[in-house]
Order: sequence, then structure tokens, then C-alpha cells
Amino acid sequence: MKLYLDTGNIEEIREVAALGVLDGVTTNPTLIAREGKDFTQVIREIVGILKATGKEFTVSAEVTDLHADKMVEQGRALAAIDPHVVVKVPLIPEGIAAVHRLSREGIRTNVTLCFSTNQALLAAKAGAFIVSPFVGRLDDIGEQGLGLIRDIRRVFDNYHFTTQILTASIRHPLHVTEAALAGSDIATIPKQVFMKLFHHPLTEQGNEKFLRDWRAYEEQLRRGTQHGGAQ
Ligand code: G3P
Repeated sequence: MKLYLDTGNIEEIREVAALGVLDGVTTNPTLIAREGKDFTQVIREIVGILKATGKEFTVSAEVTDLHADKMVEQGRALAAIDPHVVVKVPLIPEGIAAVHRLSREGIRTNVTLCFSTNQALLAAKAGAFIVSPFVGRLDDIGEQGLGLIRDIRRVFDNYHFTTQILTASIRHPLHVTEAALAGSDIATIPKQVFMKLFHHPLTEQGNEKFLRDWRAYEEQLRRGTQHGGAQ
């Protein structure tokens, strides 16, 4: 499963990219607005950071209109920033029409705000490169976010759709585990959740003990050398 960061924050992306496990970044209008910087410039900076990793990647940048003609126009401009940019489009009828047109032009799309299997089916039929089901927001209203991932995976496999499932709106590490178990192609993760993936108390406790024992061993050798005694 590919691991993406869900952020528009350059420093967060730089920090996680340095760990060698980052496969891409997703943004949305809220995340971009939060940074308060020029949209195109932010996307360019993100592309530059990911190019430096030497790994294959995509960066999702979202259109901000409700009409297909305008979404197509915005999508062309976003795709022109860099070949790694994937155009994010909301899963509304006008968005699906825009996806159909953009995909026929060879422009890759990420259909976002997906909350049902039927919506995902429509996105795939329109030629979406990626579809983004929002699991956290479904959980927030008492629905089964990961159940949706499992259902979409089954439908896409039944009909051999190549559209990638990008599990979004992730709230905690268990969402990542369950998305991987469900066969999601990608998980896009907020940075604070991403960093939790590394941690387990037994790892940290075990490493502390290894190093404590090693330092005692080195001290023992040092003392033995000083006294010249056989150990
Ligand atoms: O990329 C979609 C994601 O940003 C939505 O997450 O936490 O706003 O539901 P959230």
C-alpha cells in the first residue's frame, strides 16, 4: 500500500519525505487555505520535495468550481504544473462529467468526497485514476468507513476496474492497518497520525535495554583494559 501525507504544509512534507517511506501527497482547498500561500507555488514546492526522494509519486491538487467546463479548465491548468500532479474533483454529477473529459485528454484525476460504493462505481466508470472514500467522516456519523473500502475493493475487483482506492479522512493508525487489510491501494494520512505508525512501546523499551546493556558492556571492557585483567 502506498502511503501519502494529507497536508499542504511544506515542513511536514519535508520531514516525512526524509524518512524514505512517502509515496505522495494529497491536498484539498481547506488544507491549502490553512497554509495561506499561493496554491500553485505550494504544489510546485511539494513536487520538488517528492522529486528529490527519487521515488515514484503523485500530488493531488483540487479544482474549486461546481461546473464541468470550469473544472476541466482548472484541471488542465493544474495538470500543466507538473506531470506528477493528479487533478482532484468532487464526486458530483458535474465533477464526474469533468473526470470523463479530463481522462479522455490523458489527465489523471482523483475523485474525492466519496461516501458510497455507488459513487465509487460512477467514478471508476468515468475513468478516474483514483477515488478517495472518506472513512473518518463516515465513522464520525456512526457508519462503517472501512466497510466501504472493503465493498469498493470487491466491486472494483469484480469488474477489473483499474481505478485506485485512496483511503482518506484517516483518524488513527488502526484506519491505516484496516485499509491495508482491505486492499486499499493508497492511504493518505495526516502527519500526526503518520508519525504514530512508527511507534510501539515494546520497540522503544527493547531498544533502550539493548543500548543500556551495550553501554555496560563497553564500560566493563574499558575497566578490564585499564586493569589489564583477563575477562
Ligand atoms: O483528503 C481528504 C481529507 O483531507 C479529509 O479529511 O479529516 O477533513 O475528514 P478530514
